[in-house]
Formats: sequence, C-alpha cells, structure tokens
Amino acid sequence: MEKIVVKGGTPLFGSVDISGMKNAALPIIFACVLVNGKCTIENIPRVRDVEISFQILKGMGAVVNEVSRNTYEIDCSNIKAGTSSPALVSKLRASYYLWGTEFGRFGYTKTGHPGGCNFADRPVDQHIKGFEALGGRVVSETDFVEIHRDGESKGANIYFDVVTVGGTVNVMLASVLSGGVTIIENAAREPHIVDLAIFLNRCGAKITGAGTEIIKVRGVKELHGCTHDIIPDMIEAGTFMIAAAATRGAVTVNNVIPKHMESLSAKLEEIGVTIEELDDSIRVDATGSSFRPTRIKTMPYPGFPTDMQPQMCVLLTQASGQSMITEGIYETRFRYVDDLVRMGAQIKVDTRRAIITGGTELHGADVTALDLRAGVAMVIAGLIADGETSISNIYCIERGYDDLVGKLTGLGANVFHVTVPDEAVKECAPCE
Ligand code: EPZ
Repeated sequence: MEKIVVKGGTPLFGSVDISGMKNAALPIIFACVLVNGKCTIENIPRVRDVEISFQILKGMGAVVNEVSRNTYEIDCSNIKAGTSSPALVSKLRASYYLWGTEFGRFGYTKTGHPGGCNFADRPVDQHIKGFEALGGRVVSETDFVEIHRDGESKGANIYFDVVTVGGTVNVMLASVLSGGVTIIENAAREPHIVDLAIFLNRCGAKITGAGTEIIKVRGVKELHGCTHDIIPDMIEAGTFMIAAAATRGAVTVNNVIPKHMESLSAKLEEIGVTIEELDDSIRVDATGSSFRPTRIKTMPYPGFPTDMQPQMCVLLTQASGQSMITEGIYETRFRYVDDLVRMGAQIKVDTRRAIITGGTELHGADVTALDLRAGVAMVIAGLIADGETSISNIYCIERGYDDLVGKLTGLGANVFHVTVPDEAVKECAPCE
C-alpha cells in the first residue's frame, strides 16, 4: 500500500511553481467532446483525475496525444455518444460533464453515475433542471443516467436555486451548440468558469458574462479546434500558502493569479501572516508569527473557498484562542476532524460549524486521507506535528495534486512517499 510519511517540525522555505488548475482542466478536457477538430491544451496538471478523463475519452473514440508533460492534443471528432465506461465514470465527479457535452453535441447521452467526494450529499437536481429547460428528458436509474432531446435544440432561461459550479459548467456545455440563446442566472463565478468560457469562445462559441452571476450563451452550429492554456490552480496555491504559514516558514508561490487568492490572502493577513503580492506570485512569510484567532465562512467565489477549509482548519489549531469555521457550501465537510483530534487538536464540530481551540501541540499519528482536501490537510498537520505522521489512502490526494511530495521536499519538508506491505486497503471513496 502507498503512504505519505511526514516528519514534522521543519519550517518550509523557498519557492514553488503552481500547476494548472484541476477543476479548470477537467471541464475543458470534457468540453473537447463538443469540438469537431483538434484542441491543444497546455498547463494540464499531471493528476489522476486527468489521467482517468483521458482514458474515458479514448475509450469513446477520441485521440489523445501527449505533446509534453503538461501539454496534450485532444481530438474528439469521431467520438461516439453513450459509449463511456461506467467503471471509469464512477471514479470521478467531473465525468458528469459528459452529460452536458454529449447532450449538447448529439442530443443524447447515457453514462454511469459519476463519483465524487462523499463528505456530503452531492445532488444534481440543478443540472437536471438545466437539461430539461433545454428540451432534454432525463432518466436516472440505478446504473445509468440517460438524457434524450426530442426535436430541435433550443435556448432557455435557467435560474439556479443554488450557486453550483458543476451545474453552471454543464448548462454552458449543453447550450453552446444549441439553436437559440441561453441565459444562466445565479451562475457560479469561479475563475474556472471563466477559463472554460475563454476556451469555448476560442473554439468559436459565443459566451458572454462568465465570471458574473448572469451568463449568456448564443448557440452556434459548430466548434473548431484551438489552443488553450489552463489557469493556475488557486486551491493548490492556497494549500502551499497555508502550509508555509502553518510551519512558520517563508515561501513564494509562483505561477499564480493573485486576484484569485484574495479571500485567502486577506484571511492570512488578518491572523498575522505577512503577504506580499507580486505580478504572478505571492510571498508568504510567517517566520516568528503568532496567529490571532478568526472566523471563516466558506462561500461561492469570490468568498472563501470550501476546498481550502480543511487546510485552514489545521492552521487555526496553531492560532491563540478560539476560531470558528462555518461550512457554507456543503451540509458538512468535517470528517477529517476526528484524525486531527487524535493528533492533539481541540475541535468541536456541530454539522456545519467547527470551533477550534488553538494553541495546541500536535503529535504525529497514523491517519487516513478521507478525500482530496482532507487528505492534504493531514499532510499539513504532519508538517507541524511533533514526530512522524503516516497518511494512508493517498490515492485521494494524488487525484488533485501534481507531485505534492516533490514540491514539499523542494521547500525543505521531511516528507516521503513509501510503499508498505498491503494491508486491508481502505478503498478511497472516489473523490474530486
Ligand atoms: C465543484 O464541485 C468542485 N469539483 C469541488 O471541488 C468544489 O468543492 C465545488 O465545486 C464548490 O466549489 C470539481 O470542480 C470537479 P457545486 P461541484 O455544484 O460542481 C449543491 C475539490 O476538492 N448542489 O458547486 O460538484 C451542492 O450539494 C472538489 O476539488 C445542489 O444542491 O459543486 C453543494 O452544496 C470537492 N444541486 C453546492 O450546491 C445541484 O444540482 C455547491 O456544489 C448541484 C449542486
């Protein structure tokens, strides 16, 4: 079994280059299904979810060529609708972008159910609302989801009851080739929504308003190939910023867009970390810092990202006094707290709220990566704990972080990727 072992107590120093954003790359890779031609996508992170996405598309007839470590050519001209592998589709949540792309291009899709972190209920009712507004009939059975469109494709006006990244992406994908105009209201505003719109417009789509709560999609007849460069991963960048602060080190994260990091940078400054923003990098300096407590509520972008909540919780165990985190996106997202408490943290959880009593020493322990961001939070806990922390189920972490151990080692961390004799491997619930 593969594990990550961390020997704590070493502050992180130096600089790290941030990879392309997983949650931007995945919708754009699946969006290639809409394109009649070859797309060259640069700055793709080498993470397992991307590998699985390529396997899914190749199994459907797409041609995927590796040009370099982070650049791929994807040609879905001859892809067949409804032919994705249910086993592969069930390994990641982003596979549900096949719904929007196949429905958008062929008026039909049939796939297995997607995977996804099981830290909370993950409904898709808003996706279905969008497909039905666009003329689709959705059938969801135990083993598959099928969407048919009878008659000509058309535009629609769709108002999302909740801000949903996946729902916004799927309706954009389902409407770019439609025969009309689609208005998405209460749309997600995340940077990866904007990146998807830029990619699709480079392919000939007519999308305006991405990044605001109202997105307009004027349907076009066909999309042609293009070249696109994925935006930097704001969640990976934030993870390293928090790790630098937690270890009381000083780290510069390179290849970032500081504006995407504003909510985290402001929160780190508020608790006592020095932040310096440069053109495409941010310097975090927490040498000698003592951290003040704070309150955080995760919100849709530009609010504090839910995908940085577990990492921030670990940092706040080192703040003086009592901090509070409210999970504003999911009905809960605190499964990882049990392992943190076993490491010496004082945290009380009540469904959506965690009260962290800081100033506690953490000690090393054997812990499990329960999902992608919970897993990386355990690595940060190991970096500041006294002694050795062993993290199992690291498949979850490798789904969303490109060379995490190598990048941390480059910053001076004592962290190792080890293989131990197979025990009863606790299968990682497919996570993001
Ligand atoms: C994306 O998930 C990300 N995953 C998640 O990142 C991220 O946490 C989430 O957006 C929020 O930013 C990918 O991009 C692959 P949502 P998604 O639809 O699209 C509710 C990570 O760590 N909702 O924005 O599935 C939902 O229950 C992962 O990289 C409905 O009620 O999230 C949640 O409470 C974890 N009905 C809220 O909306 C729906 O039809 C936001 O979910 C859809 C969503």
